[in-house]
Amino acid sequence: MPQTNKKSGLKDDKNVRAFLAKTIGEDAESDAVMNMLREFRWNMTLYRCAIREVQTKFEVLDEELSISRVRNPIDRIESRVKSPESIADKLRRNHLEFSIASMRENLNDIAGLRIICQYIDDIYTVSDMLSKQDDITVIKVKDYIHSPKPNGYRSYHMVVEVPVFFSEQKHSVRVEVQFRTIAMDFWASLEHDIRYKKDISDPAAFAADLKDCADIAYSLDVRMQKIRDRIK
Ligand code: GTP
Ligand code: MG
Repeated sequence: MPQTNKKSGLKDDKNVRAFLAKTIGEDAESDAVMNMLREFRWNMTLYRCAIREVQTKFEVLDEELSISRVRNPIDRIESRVKSPESIADKLRRNHLEFSIASMRENLNDIAGLRIICQYIDDIYTVSDMLSKQDDITVIKVKDYIHSPKPNGYRSYHMVVEVPVFFSEQKHSVRVEVQFRTIAMDFWASLEHDIRYKKDISDPAAFAADLKDCADIAYSLDVRMQKIRDRIK
């Protein structure tokens, strides 16, 4: 069974209320802020539930394939709901207004899942199986495995829409799913740390080394896959 590491984007109502008040320029006790907080919490619940829906689908596939193919294709699953600060930052970066409607409409990655697989083939197998499920709508695919980013980043990204059934109504919710091998994830974690670590004055100084490591990690993935195929 894949391990799960779940992070919540909404730890403390009081902090979120203060944050919303500051962002929309209203008093924290005002009706506008209280209404927004209520709506924000409701939406975050929806995103968390959407993560659970999609995560369960992967856990089911993993369990089934572990019987039919004798091993688990998924090494582990991570998930997170984007924090209010990151939501506001991303809307600002894209010159979009900060509102619940704007965030629902414009952001695809508020609910995020990362599926870490052992082998490259496993990524295409499980992502294809998810795509074919009749309650899943694929909105967008970016294959950074076959077309890596110039810095060496490799992963397979999908944005899907999944129905979440609440008491009164069915809601379609978008979830971003990133598929990576263990080696790609290892690389992306280090690259992310270097990029965002405040005490590294010149992250560009690591670029060539990182690109080299990305290529080595990929050739390791390809060779491991070939060995795996030989012993199948
Ligand atoms: P955002 O990066 O979310 O603003 O969106 P985008 O529409 O440009 O999407 P893209 O598919 O390129 O990236 C989405 C996510 O993939 C990012 O938020 C990261 O989690 C991850 N990612 C993309 N590029 C890189 C990269 O170069 N390094 C690392 N470590 N992660 C990356
Ligand atoms: Mg993102």
